[in-house]
Amino acid sequence: NKDKFELLQKKNEEALQGGGEARIAAQHKKGKLTARERIHLLLDEGTFQEIDKFVMHRAKDFGLEKEHYLGDGVVTGYGEVNGRLVYVYSQDFTVFGGSLSETHAEKICKIMDMAMKNGAPVIGLNDSGGARIQEGVVSLGGYADIFYRNTLASGVVPQISAIMGPCAGGAVYSPAITDFILMVENTSYMFVTGPNVVKTVTQETVTAEELGGASTHSTKSGVTHFACANELECINHIKKLLSYIPQNCEDEAPIYEYELKDDEKRSVLDSIIPDNPNHPYDMREVIDGIADEGSFFEVHKNYADNIVVGFARLAGRSIGIVGNQPQSLAGVLDNHASIKAARFVRFCDSFNVPLLVLVDVPGFLPGTDQEWNGIIVNGAKLLYAFSEATVPRVTVITRKAYGGAYDVMNSKHIGADLNFAWPTAEIAVMGAKGAAEIIFKREIAEAENPETKLQEKIDEYTAKFANPYRAAHRGFVDEVIVPSETREKLIRAYKMLENKVDKLPRKKHGNIPL
Ligand code: COA
Repeated sequence: NKDKFELLQKKNEEALQGGGEARIAAQHKKGKLTARERIHLLLDEGTFQEIDKFVMHRAKDFGLEKEHYLGDGVVTGYGEVNGRLVYVYSQDFTVFGGSLSETHAEKICKIMDMAMKNGAPVIGLNDSGGARIQEGVVSLGGYADIFYRNTLASGVVPQISAIMGPCAGGAVYSPAITDFILMVENTSYMFVTGPNVVKTVTQETVTAEELGGASTHSTKSGVTHFACANELECINHIKKLLSYIPQNCEDEAPIYEYELKDDEKRSVLDSIIPDNPNHPYDMREVIDGIADEGSFFEVHKNYADNIVVGFARLAGRSIGIVGNQPQSLAGVLDNHASIKAARFVRFCDSFNVPLLVLVDVPGFLPGTDQEWNGIIVNGAKLLYAFSEATVPRVTVITRKAYGGAYDVMNSKHIGADLNFAWPTAEIAVMGAKGAAEIIFKREIAEAENPETKLQEKIDEYTAKFANPYRAAHRGFVDEVIVPSETREKLIRAYKMLENKVDKLPRKKHGNIPL
């Protein structure tokens, strides 16, 4: 039997070689790690269990029948990240440029099916020249098999895509369906059609990096949630992200040990809101004042920065935070901000992560650009996402909550569980100046001194509405709280909501305005 054992060992060694030393060296020269090195960094030491290591393609055209590599350009299997099961596939650019063959796709589908049955996240490390050109339609079929599973797995297990090399053409649609996309600066790109096709069709001259690099997709398109400086940072981000989210839709996120103190007051919160209601401040300071120290992990940081979204922990438990950002565009809701926040809310709701919504919103951004790009349906996405979320939902209005945006931002009326307001809250149909100019238009015009009259009316409106008490009188705000007490109040609120059961009316699925 010695020969048989040696044969196995030989095959194992061959598989580890991927496309061979020269191609591995070329991969390193580009500043990229190999598929196996990436898995090694991602998973806990010694936990990786490879599946389908000896799978080979079945193609018979264009000389492929004479060229075989064990594993066929993708390393797949399962292992652990911080002791928790994950399934992983890692495309091997050294084998036919990581291109996707029929068998390559079958390997990915196999671990996706396992992940769905066994309830654990799927992590895809993408580095591929696209469809295996020599295989034709069977390769395209392979993509579709993956897209189909991505869709079925959506909301069942978390799916994370890291783009660590090329990802072009149809290939982009797998990451696009997954929950989070990470990209590496300068060594990865994603686009439906590359610079050459773009040049032919639209006469635009653009580099791959400009067209679909990490900074483009993290700032302009919002396709990627994280732009990472290098591959190591990218892998560390995946691990961090996993620490906030559960294994599947029936599970809860990991709970970190936290000893509750007698006094959870944070006095820093009392001095964040400027005296002048039109002055900006950084909502991240509010988040840092509420969340466990250093626990805020921002998602989509460089995109639509008039809204902040991300994960944090409160007394050791994961929460998803959505906050208007007064220091960018005064925190208005616009197309991009609405889409960004809606997608995040839906992720949190799919995977049982309670929501905290911090409100300081002067309304929706006016203008032809906004209207022509569909602010009506895009704003509705966020409204819909909050309305259908059944996870515990708590709102804190720190300052402005104006107009329709008040309703949208997790108001009591759309199912929020607890709504707090700080004494600095202004809950009204609009700002005092705008309101006075409209409702007292004639009175002001006819006044002896219109300026003085306007100011008088502004003061009157401010006194009546620029506060949280009208809403509190109605019970639309459950409690007006001193900012420094917010953390304490929220810890108690989420504890109270721990066993919340809320069901939507029976339906096949809703029809969110896309
Ligand atoms: N199918 C089959 N083989 C492919 C491939 C594909 N889609 N993409 C790349 N390869 C192979 C190359 O033939 C080359 O093989 P070799 O190592 O035997 O020489 C190897 O992968 C590396 O490709 P190379 O072009 O040398 O790498 P690069 O870093 O210079 O460029 C790409 C990478 C992805 C930009 C380039 O390979 C490319 O344009 N590929 C085709 C993309 C495409 O049109 N895909 C099909 C539509 S989705």
